[in-house]
Amino acid sequence: MKQIYGAELDYSLLVKKEMNYSIARPFHFFDNSTIQLFKKYCYFWTMIQENVSLKKYNTFGIEAKAKRFAVFSTTEELNEILQQSNEDELLILGGGSNLLLTQDFEGLVIRNEIKGFEVVNESENDVCIKVGSGEVWHEFVLRSIENNFGGVENLSLIPGSVGASPMQNIGAYGVEIKDVFIELEAYHIETGKVKIFSHKECRFGYRESVFKRELKGEYIIVSVTYRLTKNKHQIKASYGAIQSELESNHIDSPSIKDISDAVIAIRSSKLPDPKEIGNAGSFFKNPVVDRSILEKIQLSKKNVPNYPAPNNQVKLAAGWLIEQAGWKGKTFDNYGVHKNQALVLVNYSDCTGEDILNLSTQIIEDVKVKFEITLEREVNII
Ligand code: FAD
Ligand code: EPU
Repeated sequence: MKQIYGAELDYSLLVKKEMNYSIARPFHFFDNSTIQLFKKYCYFWTMIQENVSLKKYNTFGIEAKAKRFAVFSTTEELNEILQQSNEDELLILGGGSNLLLTQDFEGLVIRNEIKGFEVVNESENDVCIKVGSGEVWHEFVLRSIENNFGGVENLSLIPGSVGASPMQNIGAYGVEIKDVFIELEAYHIETGKVKIFSHKECRFGYRESVFKRELKGEYIIVSVTYRLTKNKHQIKASYGAIQSELESNHIDSPSIKDISDAVIAIRSSKLPDPKEIGNAGSFFKNPVVDRSILEKIQLSKKNVPNYPAPNNQVKLAAGWLIEQAGWKGKTFDNYGVHKNQALVLVNYSDCTGEDILNLSTQIIEDVKVKFEITLEREVNII
């Protein structure tokens, strides 16, 4: 499968077909069930590797080692791996496109490879598709468009896995995952039970969900079900950049494919491809502040980008604030702030996670001094 914007994967050491059970031979004096049990545990032991470099598993391209590392492609494998490992610390990895590794991980890192698509319900106008959480998000988007299923086209080319999409309610160009989300299944790490979470229970917000807050670290998402349109697609083209892209291509009544193509073109021109420059997309969230703060900034600055938010608040553009504070394009040895998009911090070659974290702290402090606004990191710091 083509992998766009994802950390490159190499599971050659871990694929099931390469496992052989010839070790059972010398043990033929045990009864059959003991041998079966032994074989099973050997299989899961060999799935867990030690001292594995995570560099190719995070889109920042940061070098850090996992004390132990395994890949799971079913909930049964997940169960077995967790039973075999007594590590206190656990990190679940999807595409590694929304995290910053600041040190070696002294625990177990598990990489999610649960695959599969299933149509679970269908009506004249809609289709409900259950997707394995280890599927690549953009592959799901492309597949939906190929089938003329609408709803996720504005979210084209967002890197990462399906399972991480509800984590921070991914969003772009006027659409968030909550708009198409029905429910998800999540594995409870403590009990091994799988629970279904409804839309309401996920408590989605701007780059937020219950899994980033109250239930942080408690569940592993194993599947997500989305509702997509089969016809009467709700085309969302009001975002300025989409309109300009469609106009320049002389498209008056866009299809979902046209929207996807426009989004891909915009994103490719603005955001650095992690295959070329290490990054994790927007490093900070756009701050939601009282209108009075906007009005104060407007006393000295013209054309301050702002978007309405509930309760007489406004959302400001963190990229604009960072640029105005003078950080856009700043480079320090092998890392810095991207030249086209100040919201994106970049690793040009082999910087450390600490370098990026310290840079983000300096930016937060400077923006606080200049605008009295405290930026919040979007990226998960590990
Ligand atoms: P990871 O980075 O692997 O994990 C992120 C967090 O979720 C970690 O805490 C991890 O432990 C946890 N996690 C991952 N999978 C699971 C699971 N199955 N169960 C439980 N926890 C899990 N985001 C947007 O919202 N909009 C954008 O427009 C956007 N653009 C981006 C552009 C670029 C170039 C890049 C690099 C990133 C961008 N992102 C964007 C951020 C990122 O792509 C998303 O947050 C994405 O959903 C992360 O998916 P992932 O699989 O890589 O998650
Ligand atoms: N801007 C600047 N300077 C910059 C960057 C932006 O002045 O360096 C201004 C732009 O001119 C525009 C405004 O800020 O007026 C907003 O910029 P843009 O439309 O590029 O969007 P953004 O706020 O920077 C957000 C998301 C992106 C998402 C895009 C498109 C957040 C934190 N970021 O970026 O999501 O793709 O909108 O919807 O909400 C991500 O979460 O990783 C991510 C990339």
